[in-house]
Amino acid sequence: MASVAVIMVDPEQSEKRLKHDSVALAEEIDKGSMCDEIVGSSGALQKVLSHVSKVAPTDATVLVTGETGTGKELVARAIHRRSRRSSRAFVSVNCAAIPRDLIASELFGHEKGSFTGALQRRLGRFELAEGGTIFLDEVGELPLGTQIALLRVLQEHEFERVGGTRSIRTNVRVVAATNRNLQAAIAAGTFRSDLFYRLNVFPIDMPPLRERREDIPVLVEYFVDHCARKVGKNIQGITKESLDLLRSYPWPGNIRELQNVIERSVIMCETENFSVDKTWLARQPLATEPKIPLSEKLAAQEKEMIEAALSESRGQVFGPSGAAAIVGMPRSTVEPKIRSLKINKNRFKSCAYTLVVETS
Ligand SMILES: Nc1ncnc2c1ncn2[C@@H]1O[C@H](COP(=O)(O)OP(=O)(O)OP(=O)(O)O)[C@@H](O)[C@H]1O
Ligand SMILES: [Mg+2]
Repeated sequence: MASVAVIMVDPEQSEKRLKHDSVALAEEIDKGSMCDEIVGSSGALQKVLSHVSKVAPTDATVLVTGETGTGKELVARAIHRRSRRSSRAFVSVNCAAIPRDLIASELFGHEKGSFTGALQRRLGRFELAEGGTIFLDEVGELPLGTQIALLRVLQEHEFERVGGTRSIRTNVRVVAATNRNLQAAIAAGTFRSDLFYRLNVFPIDMPPLRERREDIPVLVEYFVDHCARKVGKNIQGITKESLDLLRSYPWPGNIRELQNVIERSVIMCETENFSVDKTWLARQPLATEPKIPLSEKLAAQEKEMIEAALSESRGQVFGPSGAAAIVGMPRSTVEPKIRSLKINKNRFKSCAYTLVVETS
C-alpha cells in the first residue's frame, strides 16, 4: 500500500508568490488521491506529523481530537499506513451515524436470533479489522453499555458477539476521534473516565485552520489543482484578491469547508485565473467581525479557569486542594470572582467524575 505523502512547501516561497497579482499554481503538487495526502507546512501541522510518525509504528491507542474538518480521519489513516498493520484492514466506524441500539452489534457482531431481525450470525467491525486498525470516529457518541464493552477490548483484548457466550480474542489497534469535549462529557456522566484514559494513551490534537493560516495558500493550490484536473479545466493562477479573502476568513468548517468552496469555485470558473465569490463564505472575514472587548474576553477566560479548578476540586474553594489553591489565588479573591462571574459552584460538587450506569 502506498505510503502517506506529506507535501511540505517552503512558506517563504509561498509568501513570495502571493506578492504577485496572479499566482502560478505549483506544478510539483502530487497528483495522487486527495484522500491520502496531508498538505501543509505550518509549525502546528509539523508537530502533529512528528507525533504521527512517532506513534504509528507502536501499537498504542490514539485519540485524535479537534474541530470538524481539521483532518482527524486523515491522520488516523496516516497512522495506519505507517504502522506494521498497513497491509491489513483499516475499518472506519462513525459511532454517531449508527442507531444507538445497533452499535454494539455493528462493532462486535451478533449471533443468529440474538434480537428480532438477527436472522443469521454477523461479524462485527472488530472481527473485520482483525490484524489491522479500527477507527472509531465520534467516539464520544457511544452509549455507556458499549463503552464498557470497548473498555474490555482495550484492557483484555476480547469481546463477545451480541447474544453470544464465547469470548473472542482480538488483535486490533484502536484509533479514536472526537470533536466533543470528552472531559465535559465525563463531568456530565455520559462518558466513562476509565475509557477516556484508555483511549487517551497518545493524544493528538488537530489545530483549527485559523490557527495555521500559513497552510492556506498551499492547500488552495493543492485543491485547485486537484479539482481542475477532475473537471478538466486549465487553471493557471489565482487572483490576489481571492487569496487574501481565503486567508482572512476564519474557516469554521476548517479544511473541509475550504475544499468545498474551492471545488464550487473551480466549477464556476470561466477563465484561467481562479477567483472566489465572497458571498460563498458563510461568515464574514475576520477583519469585519465584531470585536469582542478585551474585558469580556478576560472575564470569559477567568471564568473558564475557575470552573476548571472547581471541577478538579469538586466544588471546594479553599483548602490545600481547593480551587483557590489550584488557580494560585487567595480565597478572598476567588470567592468574589465566583459571585461576580455568576459561577454555580454547587454544580461541581455532585457530578464530577460520577458514572451513570446505563439501565437499558
Ligand atoms: N492537511 C490536509 N491536507 C489535505 N487535505 C486535508 C487536510 N486536512 C484535511 N483534509 C481534507 O479535508 C477533509 C476533511 O478531513 P477529515 O475528514 O479527516 O476531517 P475530520 O476532522 O475527520 O472531520 P469531522 O470531524 O467532520 O469528521 C477531507 O477531504 C480531507 O482529505
Ligand atoms: Mg471525521
